[in-house]
Amino acid sequence: MEKDFTILGIETTCDETSAALLRADGTLVSNVVHTQIDIHKKYCGVVPELASRAHAVKVAEVVKEALGDNKIDAVAFASGPGLPGGLMVGRIAAEAAAALRNVPVYGVNHLEGHMFACEFDKVEDKFKAVKTLEFPLITLIVSGGHTELWHVKNYGQYKILGRTRDDAAGEAFDKVSKLLGLGYPGGPPVSREALNGNPAAIKFPRPMMPGTFEFSFSGIKTAVSYYLRDHKDINKADVCAGFQAAVVETLVAKTFEAVKKYKAKNIAVGGGVAANDMLRQMMTARGVEENVKVNFVPRALSADNGAMIALAALRKIMYAGKADANKKINPNMKVKSW
Ligand code: KG4
Ligand code: ZN
Repeated sequence: MEKDFTILGIETTCDETSAALLRADGTLVSNVVHTQIDIHKKYCGVVPELASRAHAVKVAEVVKEALGDNKIDAVAFASGPGLPGGLMVGRIAAEAAAALRNVPVYGVNHLEGHMFACEFDKVEDKFKAVKTLEFPLITLIVSGGHTELWHVKNYGQYKILGRTRDDAAGEAFDKVSKLLGLGYPGGPPVSREALNGNPAAIKFPRPMMPGTFEFSFSGIKTAVSYYLRDHKDINKADVCAGFQAAVVETLVAKTFEAVKKYKAKNIAVGGGVAANDMLRQMMTARGVEENVKVNFVPRALSADNGAMIALAALRKIMYAGKADANKKINPNMKVKSW
């Protein structure tokens, strides 16, 4: 592959319209993100029809800005999992850009994108994919729609160990934030409030689902709602700190159970919830204790973005000799081995 091989990545699976340019050496040339949070916040969640329309309105402008005057050699787009309307907009935009430039189009799994985003690091003010993953690897994807734990034997060799049975970790933050009137999305305000609280003041359950690598967060959220129902004089900061500790301790404990079972050398933590400070601190400290390398996605690339889609396609081209040319969208796409 030529050093200046450049790939355009397009992301439209949920509520971010994004496009990015990535070079074969891992340099992120551009990453334009248009978030729809202002549209969805009054509903305290993403409204699919409004999301599709907003993607359709913005995608051309976002792609044009990301492209600038650069040449491209391929286009990648997130073909699933995600909201069907957004996925269709992403596919059309990708095919149009590829047809204009006469280059191939590749469909990419959005969750694989979140994992590969853990390779990015800041190098002289620019993001570059330099923190390469080591195998065996345990991947934890934690976002508003997903909580999944994978055993990754090598590039492209995935085994899903478990996922959430009910709410995703980010969804639990969003719901608790709504209960407390702290706004949407819930992760940032709940974790900010938690800074002033005592995590041990209120003990919420840690749903360990013994004998499995599955998660369940709806019980913690329900415990918070019962606590609020039964206590008139609450300390919001203590509620947030107690809730956050319950979620984070559960995520860290289950990840390290998987590390132990699969003798992993490396952990990758991606998705919107990977921006959480307590999760970053606890996972990193435990990694040091147990001599396991921990890759967190940089905060700026933790939410959905085109950079991670471009990088996932680039890694497939590099390590599998080709990317998945399947352009069919799949709202329920599961991660699968190359
Ligand atoms: O990956 P993402 O941008 O979108 C999905 O694919 O879902 O993740 C968004 C989720 C939201 O639920 C949001 O509340 C959560 O990530 N989040 C956080 C933090 N920042 C964002 N959760 C906990 N702590 C944070 N600091
Ligand atoms: Zn995502």
